[in-house]
Amino acid sequence: MGELLKRTMYCGEARPSDIGAEAVVNGWVQRSRRLGGLVFCDLRDKTGLVQIVFDEDVPAEVFEKAESLRGEFVVGVRGTVRERESKNEALPTGAVEISARELVIYSEAETPPIYIKDDDKVDENLRLKYRYLDLRKPKMQRNLTFRAEVCRITREYFAGRGFTEVETPVLIKPTPEGARDYLVPSRVNNGHYYALPQSPQMYKQLLMAGGTDRYFQIVKCFRDEDLRADRQPEFTQIDLEMSFVDADEVIRVQEGFLAKLMKETKGIDLPLPLPRMCYREAMGRFGSDKPDTRFGMELVDISDIAADSEFGVFANAVAGGGSVRGICAPGASDSFSRKDIDKLTEACRSYGAKGLSWMRVTDEGVSASFSKFFDDAFFERLSSLFGAKAGDLILIAADRDKVVFDTLGYLRCELAERLGLIPEDRYDFLWVADFPLFEETDEGGISPKHHPFTAPNPEDMGLLGTEPLKVRALAYDIVLNGSEIGGGSIRIHDRELQRRMFEVLGMTEREAQGKFGFLLEAFRYGVPPHGGLAYGLDRLVMILLGEKSIRETIAFPKNQAAEDPVSGAPGEASAEQLAELGLD
Ligand code: AMO
Repeated sequence: MGELLKRTMYCGEARPSDIGAEAVVNGWVQRSRRLGGLVFCDLRDKTGLVQIVFDEDVPAEVFEKAESLRGEFVVGVRGTVRERESKNEALPTGAVEISARELVIYSEAETPPIYIKDDDKVDENLRLKYRYLDLRKPKMQRNLTFRAEVCRITREYFAGRGFTEVETPVLIKPTPEGARDYLVPSRVNNGHYYALPQSPQMYKQLLMAGGTDRYFQIVKCFRDEDLRADRQPEFTQIDLEMSFVDADEVIRVQEGFLAKLMKETKGIDLPLPLPRMCYREAMGRFGSDKPDTRFGMELVDISDIAADSEFGVFANAVAGGGSVRGICAPGASDSFSRKDIDKLTEACRSYGAKGLSWMRVTDEGVSASFSKFFDDAFFERLSSLFGAKAGDLILIAADRDKVVFDTLGYLRCELAERLGLIPEDRYDFLWVADFPLFEETDEGGISPKHHPFTAPNPEDMGLLGTEPLKVRALAYDIVLNGSEIGGGSIRIHDRELQRRMFEVLGMTEREAQGKFGFLLEAFRYGVPPHGGLAYGLDRLVMILLGEKSIRETIAFPKNQAAEDPVSGAPGEASAEQLAELGLD
């Protein structure tokens, strides 16, 4: 081990008040250049950059070493802080520099495969492969620090309110969150498998049965699902559960947390209580159960006037129990050509839409893809229902409600983004409540909308056996800027009701016992009424940082193919390992 210069300050900390002081800094060479008889070097650590100058009068061997510096060499410098001749206003340390006397090169570096600067347009896979280089960028350091700060605030808030932080197991029986499990084969019990938890759901309920009363945990969860910008196969939840509470109490405690979080991270006073909206209203107005309320463009239901028209697409949708609805994009007529609308229509196919109808409002009148079926009076009605002005573009979907909502929900956000209608630096929180307890599966059966431990709304209990799809749940999601950052519910704590839930879900007693028997067993020995919630930490941090992908908030994320490009995981296992696990 060579010499180590003991740091007296971080690079980004040097200020005019330090002028004259001796300083030792350690870090990476951002760049180094010789100018006349001097060597200039920008040195970087996680706090920022400082300029180092090697004057001609430093000892020859120091100067020679300084001349050999290249990007990403790791060095220590001892010197004196002095005023800088040509100040750099863009840099917090730009009024000073360190006049170096001593230089230790800790390690040399080859030319790195990516530049260490925020705005390089490098391919993300390359960034992820060389993540340790990527992490040296100021933005990534800021993101990691911010995330840590959110965790600190979380612990401070919940620990201060009687929540006990408890770790739950990672090798477990499958959880019921509805995604695909990651399985781990057991060596000791060949042919048996652990699942990695999709969430600590059942364990936190057992903790309530265990008298813990208030639990929280910042916890890794694993779901083998298709990746998107806001999804990772392993992600982190802020997981919570409380005993002897109703939904209002859970929400009240969470609002206190969100207010503290916004104040301490953004300096924003969050007005409480946060707005609440029921699921039906959210779908009807925004076509989404996680509406972005930062902009308008709400859905308009025109089923009534579209029902008895000659236009089969409209008439059939209503006759088939569906609806005809649209959105009016302000001033979008000029910016969306026929070709653009065709492209949007194509994108809507993934939501099940067979087509899109459009209508342009211009100073000269209206033109529409469905003009020939309607008279002027109809178009006037339509314009007034949408509140449309000259220059607006109306897009209409006619289909089953689910398709109509999904399509318009997507279009609303897509158009708002393209038209620049989304205000920046605004944080719109919204509780969405009164979710349906069940949803229809593609095969025509029913499955839990959240998970099978969610309590039905007592008012709808009578419908459980007859019209389960109409039963509302005591479930609530918290939405921020159109993204579901968390969700939870009041749980079933009654064994008989839990048994009925499994029955309604078409699970036999045996199946239910096999999957969740341990929880049902626990319910036999006294379980308090309880409920809770889990936030997606990565998503929350992503939105607060203004990032577009949760990968920007995770030190070592998986890529689109669910691989860890740094280590190359998943990798192969040796024949011996497989044999031990009984997998040969
Ligand atoms: P849920 O499944 O809604 O609820 O998950 C809670 C929150 O976790 C985040 N999230 C994800 N984030 C990144 N990548 C993923 N693949 C991913 N999946 C989910 C979302 C979501 O709102 N046990 C229940 C909570 C409860 O009922 O208390 C649960 O896990 O932000």
